[in-house]
Amino acid sequence: MEKTIAVLAGDGIGPEVMAQALRVLKHVTERNGQTFRTVEALIGGAAFEVHGKHFPEETREICERSDAILFGSVGGPVAELHLEKWKDCEVNALLGIRKTFRFNANFRPVKVFPELMHICPLREEVVNRGVDILFIRELNGDLYFGEKKRFERDGMRVATDLAEYSEEQVRSVAHTAFQAARKRRNKVTSVDKANVLHTSKLWREVVREVAKEYPDVVLEDMLVDNCAMQIIRNPSQFDVILTTNMFGDILSDAGAVLPGSLGLLASASLNADGFGLYEPPGGSAQDIAGKGVANPIAQILSVAMMLRFSFSLIEEAERIEQAVGKALLGGARTGDIAAPGDPVIGTVEMTDSILSHL
Ligand code: IPM
Ligand code: MG
Repeated sequence: MEKTIAVLAGDGIGPEVMAQALRVLKHVTERNGQTFRTVEALIGGAAFEVHGKHFPEETREICERSDAILFGSVGGPVAELHLEKWKDCEVNALLGIRKTFRFNANFRPVKVFPELMHICPLREEVVNRGVDILFIRELNGDLYFGEKKRFERDGMRVATDLAEYSEEQVRSVAHTAFQAARKRRNKVTSVDKANVLHTSKLWREVVREVAKEYPDVVLEDMLVDNCAMQIIRNPSQFDVILTTNMFGDILSDAGAVLPGSLGLLASASLNADGFGLYEPPGGSAQDIAGKGVANPIAQILSVAMMLRFSFSLIEEAERIEQAVGKALLGGARTGDIAAPGDPVIGTVEMTDSILSHL
């Protein structure tokens, strides 16, 4: 049966890298006879211009009628951030869509490609044992979605964000993490701040309960400050890092520098029914938008994640991942991953190179 994909290219480099990712999707799926219908919808500043909203109803409905969402990026250029069009753009678009579809588990895999060791900011002896971390970040709770207040006390401005977790929220994402670990190296590092925070004490309790159902998976607890240090000091020790919404936001960015470029990172946000959104978490990179120089790999790998998670097309996903590896091995380099002196190619040429290996 034909499946539908909602395509939300968004702002900045979103539309250019999305166009390339769709070329790859078409190529891989045509070969095996699987057809996808893609339906474009507006998000972010692009949506604001037409509908006066960053995540309009029309877009929500298109997503609801689709089998998966392929997302580009949202957000404006620094010089325009004061405009209404860009005000709270990321929060409205991203948090809006996460909440609407109850995307509670955010997958951010981080790998150091051996052929790109030279752009990893860590010394080679630190990463030569291999880096392959899957961050699983809870995406529906914590400081992000708790009650927010701004008020005056004793003539002073005061603001609060409530951090809240229910055991059900923790349990759900914990199961996701243990199941993911089973398909990898059977280890979960659960990251919290249980020496201080009540939400973290509950988190740790519930994760330990869930762990009992997965005796084949090793669970380790780690405090978030230590984890930030360990990601930089010895990233090879990690398999799955399971953590809260706020800590996951920060730690996954720390992990994101290891491959050497945000242009290499894909992510998936999934809900309990298996419905998913796939996006490069690197942002709209407005500074290089429209120049044809953006690295399309993050968006292309997001397509691979979509094929794997939403459509169980494992072989197709692997073929894309392998083709990306081969293009890199063959020396294809956009500016963000080039070493000094390397010949640099553009967005379209990088995709051509990947397609030639498919
Ligand atoms: C991310 C982003 C978002 C987040 C922002 C833009 C709302 O940083 O996806 O990591 O904090 O979740
Ligand atoms: Mg972030």
